Amino acid sequence: MKYTKSIENLLKEANATGEGSLKRTLGSWNLIALGIGAIIGAGLFVRTAAAAGEAAGAAVTLSFIVAAVGCAFAGLCYAEFAAMIPIAGSAYTYAYTTMGELIAWIIGWALIMEYALGAATVSIAWSEYLNKLLGGAIPYQWSHSPFESLNGVSGFINLPALVILLVLTMVLIRGTQESAKLNGIIVFIKVAIVLLFIVLGWQFIKPENHTPFMIPEGTPGHEGFFKWGWGGVLGGAAIVFFAFIGFDAVSTAAQEAKNPKRDMPIGILGSLVICTILYILFSHVLTGVANWSEFADPAKGKEASVAYVISTYMSGYSWLATGVTIAILAGFSSVILVMLLGQSRVFYTMSKDGLLPKVFSELHPKYSTPHKSNMILFILVGLFAAFVPGSVAGDLTSFGTLLAFVLVSAGIWILRVKSPDLERPFRTPLVPLVPILGIIICGGMIVALDYTTLKVAALWMVLGIIIYYTYSKNHSKIRNSEK
Ligand code: ALA
Repeated sequence: MKYTKSIENLLKEANATGEGSLKRTLGSWNLIALGIGAIIGAGLFVRTAAAAGEAAGAAVTLSFIVAAVGCAFAGLCYAEFAAMIPIAGSAYTYAYTTMGELIAWIIGWALIMEYALGAATVSIAWSEYLNKLLGGAIPYQWSHSPFESLNGVSGFINLPALVILLVLTMVLIRGTQESAKLNGIIVFIKVAIVLLFIVLGWQFIKPENHTPFMIPEGTPGHEGFFKWGWGGVLGGAAIVFFAFIGFDAVSTAAQEAKNPKRDMPIGILGSLVICTILYILFSHVLTGVANWSEFADPAKGKEASVAYVISTYMSGYSWLATGVTIAILAGFSSVILVMLLGQSRVFYTMSKDGLLPKVFSELHPKYSTPHKSNMILFILVGLFAAFVPGSVAGDLTSFGTLLAFVLVSAGIWILRVKSPDLERPFRTPLVPLVPILGIIICGGMIVALDYTTLKVAALWMVLGIIIYYTYSKNHSKIRNSEK
């Protein structure tokens, strides 16, 4: 038989207060800031130029629109669930109510890829940028994994990545509101810098850089369907998709929202809309000030593209290049913060359900945060950050996220058929069309990921299924309550 959680029981859990429950401290602006905190990061500052140079040219603005449309379908489905079942755990919980325990476990396991590996990836990028800001003062072996080497020097451990993870873990343990406050400050800084770049850069746009808008057929190095023209716009969308990861993290904090029915959809969709507008404007300026071909050239703007554009073309604004580096560091910090928060809330819920050991849901007596889980997570994520190179982890993060999006979209459709009369404070429009499009677009992006990523992801999922059958199934509270 299929073990699903009943929505009625879930709502009882969600409304529980007192000892052993998370505190409701977040308002709608906190939630929007939480979303923006997780969204704007490496995706915007690093991948925009990569997408322009490798696939889309100046039409990378269209790539952002395509990726945003895919996310919007999934976001609309997330919003319905998050308002209806305002409980920590997000996609994992939604799957538990609609598709049963095994699928829920699978999605929880995939979310580890999104949040824990996402945090590790971004902390590695944070370490790189810190070293750039410090003029390379941190020795190579102390800022790289043992699998990397340069000019005969081999890495040993990535200490800066560990330090930022530890600092943010401590903030998380102190409380959600404290974390939200720090996140709010960081979000203010990074949005201000993005806006400054857009406003100041606008006057340096040369219209000829935007024509032709897409990479023309026959451009050397751009052979292949996803490398030029409209195909290149799609290829660019798969690259910049990473920039949108994180809006769903808002839903993991549902149990800490003051008024989840109203504020969850506002937080999820609001942060997505604000970031999409910023992304389109930002990429329009970036590819207008410099030509897209410079972003394919290692001697020009392939690396540190934003700093390159400012120092090469925007005379008098070199201070902005330093501002951008600081915004990038700040941006990365808030992405890590919200990813760690999301991961610990998914673990919290899985542990409450008996699928993971109890230690993941024990709350701090004073701060009411899952402090032990936060510390275990620090060790797990820290091991990746300290000893594994960042390259594979980024694509695995996309895989975990896309799988969650597909299953959440499917879940909305299933629940509309199964329980049409439930109270839905926010309704996804045009069901089943919107969920179906969400499944097709996000499923398509999974298929477009590279083969190695898919192989590693498949191994990870097999490991998860083994753990499910050897531990979680036997400890599941739902199964045991029905024995
Ligand atoms: N969206 C996040 C970033 O761009 C993951 O870094």
